[in-house]
Amino acid sequence: MEFSITAQSLEKAATACLVVGITEGARFSPSAKIIDQASQRYLSRLKTQGDLPTKAGKTLLLHNLPGVAAPRVLLVGTGSAKSLTERDYRAAVRAAVLALDGGGAGTALFCLAELPVKGRDEAWKLEQLMLVAHEAAYRITRVADQQDPACTLERILLPTPDKVKPSAMKTLMGHCKAIANGMALTRDLGNLPPNLCTPGYLAQQALSLGRTWKLRVQVLEQSDMEKLGMGALLAVSAGSRQPPKLIVMQYSGASRQQKPVVLVGKGITFDTGGISLKPAPEMDEMKFDMCGAASVFGTLRAVAEMKLPLNLVGIVPTCENMPDGNATRPGDIVRSMSGQTVEILNTDAEGRLILCDALTYAERFEPEVLIDVATLTGACVIALGNEASGLFANDEKLQHALQVAGDHMGDRAWPLPLWDEYQEGLKSNFADMANVAGRAGGSITAACFLSRFTTQQRWAHLDIAGVAYKGGKEKGATGRPVKLFCRYLLQRSGL
Ligand code: BES
Ligand code: MN
Ligand code: ZN
Repeated sequence: MEFSITAQSLEKAATACLVVGITEGARFSPSAKIIDQASQRYLSRLKTQGDLPTKAGKTLLLHNLPGVAAPRVLLVGTGSAKSLTERDYRAAVRAAVLALDGGGAGTALFCLAELPVKGRDEAWKLEQLMLVAHEAAYRITRVADQQDPACTLERILLPTPDKVKPSAMKTLMGHCKAIANGMALTRDLGNLPPNLCTPGYLAQQALSLGRTWKLRVQVLEQSDMEKLGMGALLAVSAGSRQPPKLIVMQYSGASRQQKPVVLVGKGITFDTGGISLKPAPEMDEMKFDMCGAASVFGTLRAVAEMKLPLNLVGIVPTCENMPDGNATRPGDIVRSMSGQTVEILNTDAEGRLILCDALTYAERFEPEVLIDVATLTGACVIALGNEASGLFANDEKLQHALQVAGDHMGDRAWPLPLWDEYQEGLKSNFADMANVAGRAGGSITAACFLSRFTTQQRWAHLDIAGVAYKGGKEKGATGRPVKLFCRYLLQRSGL
């Protein structure tokens, strides 16, 4: 999707389509008013007839309105009258793109950023419009089949903003494109089948990302991990024919002295559960168990494309969790790189095992902040559903900054506690800790496990099990939480 600014007046604009918001209640939006007047009250008559789409997400495509140069006018319902909710605003943008997809208009002038959104300024509205439109135009990259046709709406024109200067608008457009490209990469990687998207494949992707975006990329092999004493990570990959990888990607946008933000993403390319085998229904969705890793790839790509003035390190521990004769058994005890020993009571609680060694490894980068991101627990889906990521942190400021970043982007995270009381459940009679506690508070005890490996760092953990992908008819990766990360990093860069 391309974006450009136009100074043309609405009724005379030489474009294939005008997109105008229709709010519930008496008043027309400024653009609707212009079109109504130009067309001898065409919209007013529709209104009298009760034919205007006012509900959020509803659309109506009109053709050849008298007095309007554009051959099409798409009316988009935006819901409640005075001030839209952020949700309704995004829904309107999405609905407009979907309504035009497959039609004859390759270009459309979107007049939606004029609508009032409670508590948000024009820059926010333009930014969200661009991000949501980019996302709505995304297509799953097919590997075995014919590719779905691309979104037929190829370019969105925006009226010259009132309050956002041309230079700021140019920057914003670039940032949105970069973020959308990052999200598309995250979604592509997540959507790939697990026979193709192996640890080795992710390592290759990292190397190619590094070449394109001038990242320093290093891939640690099994033998390196053995030397480092990553017994927890190696225990997870033991049952797989695929060799594990530990991928390190470094983006340098600031001086060497500036400490980096370090992102660590869970990269289980397929999670069978191991010997603690998962039940068959929906097991295919465990190909999405590398979405944390994919979001680290996407964020690095976006940050490099935005050329943010900071240092960012992405660490991806990646392997497969499979059962075979060499697989780790429930009851096995391993030593993590930190020196702490772990009794593996459930081989399906593997995410924390690969993350704990990666978090220890992250220490060598002396992070300013350390954030891990993982499809870690089914319990998080039970707690927060598919709306919010679970957010844990040992630093209140960091927790707050991530929450605000998510709110801004509609990529929300919600705080959960890390109280010491929850640590109790991880007690083991045979090792420093067990890798699971009871069923209760499962996402919290998982985070507590990780917290034991990050005591030296300002650290946050995002459990994205409920948000990284959708199941059912809409099955596919969402690209979350790339937007949250990008907003947080933009904020840190003072942008
Ligand atoms: N990858 C899963 C978590 C998951 C479950 C993500 C459902 C997305 C949807 C993780 O490795 C796992 O299996 N966790 C176990 C932990 C349990 C054994 C303590 C779980 O959530 O059941
Ligand atoms: Mn698992
Ligand atoms: Zn898993």
